[in-house]
Order: sequence, then structure tokens, then C-alpha cells
Amino acid sequence: MLAAADVMQNALQPAAREAGHIANLWWLFFWVLTTVFVAVAVALFIALSKRSRHDAGDAQPDIIADSPSQTNRRTTAVVTSCVIITVLILFTLLVIDFLAGNKIYAKPDPNALAIRVRGHQWWWEVQYSNPTPSEIMTTANEIHVPVGRPVKLELESTDVIHSFWVPNMHGKKDLVPGHPATTWFVANREGEFRGQCAEYCGEQHAHMRMIFVAQKQSDFEQWLAASKKSALEPTTETQRRGRELFISRQCVMCHALEGTDARAVLGPDLTHVASRSLIAAGEIPNTHDNMVRWIRNPQKIKPGTQMPPSDFSDDDLNALAAYMESLK
Ligand code: CUA
Repeated sequence: MLAAADVMQNALQPAAREAGHIANLWWLFFWVLTTVFVAVAVALFIALSKRSRHDAGDAQPDIIADSPSQTNRRTTAVVTSCVIITVLILFTLLVIDFLAGNKIYAKPDPNALAIRVRGHQWWWEVQYSNPTPSEIMTTANEIHVPVGRPVKLELESTDVIHSFWVPNMHGKKDLVPGHPATTWFVANREGEFRGQCAEYCGEQHAHMRMIFVAQKQSDFEQWLAASKKSALEPTTETQRRGRELFISRQCVMCHALEGTDARAVLGPDLTHVASRSLIAAGEIPNTHDNMVRWIRNPQKIKPGTQMPPSDFSDDDLNALAAYMESLK
């Protein structure tokens, strides 16, 4: 079973055009600034060693021989050229930074795949838009995109300020309540990457993760078509009891199951929860035991989460978890 720690999350191993521009900029700054730092450190070292020899009475003959005005002129020339070089370097970096920013924020392709992402305390709601309402697909904490096709994310927040960040794809983008924002990128290689909230948003800010999957167009279409289907019918007695409990008890107050009477949108949509590798916004692997632990008392795993503890019996918890596991 996939653990959150196994998934790549690294801005310097770009998997999208935009993240590539950011990584190139980072490396350019790194090498230029390292070179400047080393040059300054070497100059300082030379100056200090000359000075200490001078203090010891072993001064350089050429400095002693120079008149004060000659020394002054030389100092002025050195300082002036250093200032000019510094300004030139900073200005060049500024221009390159500006050009990279322009490339990253160029207007998106009108045919881009639109995905609406809503930040909640503390999970991500993900919705694949479609002009036909019945074709809209909602999921949580897992975003799939096809490689090579521009993706436009429409970002919103339902409560406080969050920040969307998948380092392998793009830089950060804030989700400010009442101010929808967009960001776009083109994934250029397949893989699974980890994203997370990058703006402090309360007690469980650090546990607001998501899995980002870049895949072949055909795999993506397959995934999207499967995700649009209604929740699978239970096939065993235990699963049937699980669904009954889900519909008749508190679960239905917050969660939705496509094709059933569960239509609440306060918590993640669970229509295909079994297809997700992690639960609780990337906190724990999606296993039977973890699902039981999570439903019994989410506060123990994620203190402060909106999901309240439950009073289900062990049998009920087993049935509920069995039903969740059947929702592929
Ligand atoms: Cu959401 Cu930090």
C-alpha cells in the first residue's frame, strides 16, 4: 500500500513545463550567487592575509611604494567596477526572472482541462467540470491529469486562506475566500506526486495533502469514466449492512455517494473512496483497519478535524469499512 512518504514532492525534479521554468530559474540563481559568494570570500581572504603581513612589518613593496593618491585611485576603480558588476548581475537576474514569470503565467489554452479545486479545513475537494451537469465528477484529495494537455485549475476556498502547491507541477497559488483564482500548467511526464497546503490554515494545516497523478491520456480517460459511475452496489451481506448504516446514520449528513440518497457536500465525496490510496487528506493509507480507526474516532488521528467521533459498535464499524472498501 502506498504511503504518503513514498510519493515524490520535489520542486527540483519538475514534471511540468511550468515547474521546469521555476527549477531552471532556481539553478541559475544558485550558480550565479554561489560564484559571487566564492569570489567575495576569496577576495576577503586575500585582503585579510595581506593586511596581517602588513601589520607584521612584512608589507608588500608595491603598496608601500605607491603614493596615497595612487592608492586612492586604485581603491576607487576597484569599488566602482565591483558596484557596476553587482548592478549588472542583479539587473540581468531581474530580467530573466521577469521573462520566466511571463512564461509561467501566459494565458492558458482555451481547450485546457478545467478542474475546480476547493480548499476546506483540512482537505481538498476536486471537481472535473463539464457543461452537462450529470457528467460533472467530484472527488477528494486526489487529482488526475493527462500528460501533455494544458490543465487549468480554478481555485476557491470555503473557509480560510489555503495555498495549493504541487512542487513538481508549479509554484504556490493562494485560495482566498471570495476571490476565485486560476493557475495552469502542462504535465510533461507520468508519475505520482505529492501536493500540500502551503499556507497556515489552522490546527491540521500540515495534514492537508493531496496525491497528484499525471498519466497517459488513455489512462486518464479510463479513470475519469470509471469515476463518473455511480457507487457500486454492495455484493455481500456485510457490505449491504454497511450501506444501510451509512444512509441511516450520521455519515449521510456530510458525505455524498453518487446514485444514492447521500448527497451532502460538507465532507469528501465517497462514491469511489476505495480507489484512493490514502484517506484523511493523505494522512493514513486506505486500509480496512485504518478506515475502522478513522470512523471510530477521527479526532485521535487528526485532532480538530470537522468529522466527529462516532458511537458505532465494532460490528457496525466493520460493516461500514467493508462497504467503503467495495466502493472502487
Ligand atoms: Cu489549508 Cu494550510
